[in-house]
Amino acid sequence: MIDFDYKNPEKIVFKNIDIPGMRYVANYRKKGGYETARTVIAEWKPDDVIEEVKKSGLRGRGGAGFLTGLKWSFIPKDSPLPKYLICNADESEPGTFKDREILRFDPHSLIEGMIIGAYAIGAHQGYIYIRGEFAQEANVVNDAIEEAYKEGVLGKSILKTNWDFDLHLYRGAGAYICGEETALIESLEGKRGHPRNKPPFPAVQGFNQSPTIVNNVETLAAVPYILKYGAQGYRKYGTEKSAGTKLFSVCGLIKKPGVYEVPMGISFKRFLYETCGGPLEGREFKAIIPGGSSVPLITREMAESEECTMDYEGFQKVGTMLGSGGVIVYDNSVCIVRALEILSRFYAHESCGQCTPCREGTGWLYKVLHRIENGLGHPDEIDLIVDIANNIDGETICPLGDAAAWPVQSAVKNFRSEFEYHITHHTCLPGTAKY
Ligand SMILES: Cc1cc2nc3c(=O)[nH]c(=O)nc-3n(C[C@H](O)[C@H](O)[C@H](O)COP(=O)(O)O)c2cc1C
Ligand code: SF4
Repeated sequence: MIDFDYKNPEKIVFKNIDIPGMRYVANYRKKGGYETARTVIAEWKPDDVIEEVKKSGLRGRGGAGFLTGLKWSFIPKDSPLPKYLICNADESEPGTFKDREILRFDPHSLIEGMIIGAYAIGAHQGYIYIRGEFAQEANVVNDAIEEAYKEGVLGKSILKTNWDFDLHLYRGAGAYICGEETALIESLEGKRGHPRNKPPFPAVQGFNQSPTIVNNVETLAAVPYILKYGAQGYRKYGTEKSAGTKLFSVCGLIKKPGVYEVPMGISFKRFLYETCGGPLEGREFKAIIPGGSSVPLITREMAESEECTMDYEGFQKVGTMLGSGGVIVYDNSVCIVRALEILSRFYAHESCGQCTPCREGTGWLYKVLHRIENGLGHPDEIDLIVDIANNIDGETICPLGDAAAWPVQSAVKNFRSEFEYHITHHTCLPGTAKY
């Protein structure tokens, strides 16, 4: 397990987050901002940039954890088509609110990461696709882009090099599914946000049928550090397979919710108790979703076990996933059936309706869970919801279907007695409440 000062988390991606005024280009440049991008364009070959990012072990922070450098290397070099780099700033998953901090307080780190990424893959055009509800953040990013153009950081011959790069901000309209990269691309093209079948993957046929890379905000904001301090500098943090630091947004019934940056590989239990202050007075943790609402829910015992470290492998060992790093904490006052009912309503509402298992299954799950929660459930319906979830899991075009199924499967597996109590007694477990 990684050694770590749990009371004083380190800052790499968040290095500027507490410095007032970093959203202004002049302040960002005073701190050495855009120097790494300038050096990279002037002195590095694009392939060497990709190689360095590969060596750093950086994995996508949008949820899937795919190796960023490897993804960049999939862009076909011989294609005559324009290439695009898209930043996924849709951040709409319940429990996930880490990218928002970068967008609000340090937009230039993101822009600098995009300049380096675009140079590496040969893109002269980039887009930031931002969640529709992020009105304030969209204003901040828009102002940052305008300032960057005025400063010669974006546009023609950027940073006094011979590289051109244009960056555009595009606001979504409040659909969670538009965070899925191919739905995002469809939406950016002006169509309904329906996920595409893969392959072809966006790196080969993405925006306007051209080679495209979609990366998360946090992923791109980590890139300037990697190029400034080298892959080894980045690897000082984290583990072999989960390199670097990760942002975790923590919400729910815990003393100190917030967004924390920690090196991967530290103890989840110590993070929950020492960094985030532990449960509220007189309560104890009951269940935790560690990676945003789309990953399996685990019990307190699993979360507090020694093998549960804050990295891709550690969360996998206890039957869940790191996902986007959105930690949702439920304590002993929460009715798990009610919590699941709320989640399943979200997925039923956000399903795009393209594939039958997801379109029909998510709505069906919600209806049955609503019935059980309201004391009208039938004994067979516990197995029924697991059966519905099993028939969605792995059977759909995009992972929204899996995301709807996993919390149901894991909640029934870990908290079956609560479902049974609802069916037998027609109400929630004593001591739990509807939040
Ligand atoms: C339903 C759904 C919603 C998603 N929402 C987001 C999102 O808001 N932000 C994000 O970066 N990735 C999101 N993803 C993952 C993206 O499809 C994609 O994997 C990611 O943007 C790639 O960036 P990365 O390699 O830097 O992680 C979502 C995936 C699904 C299935
Ligand atoms: S899994 Fe659901 S959200 Fe994804 S494409 Fe199919 S219907 Fe749409």
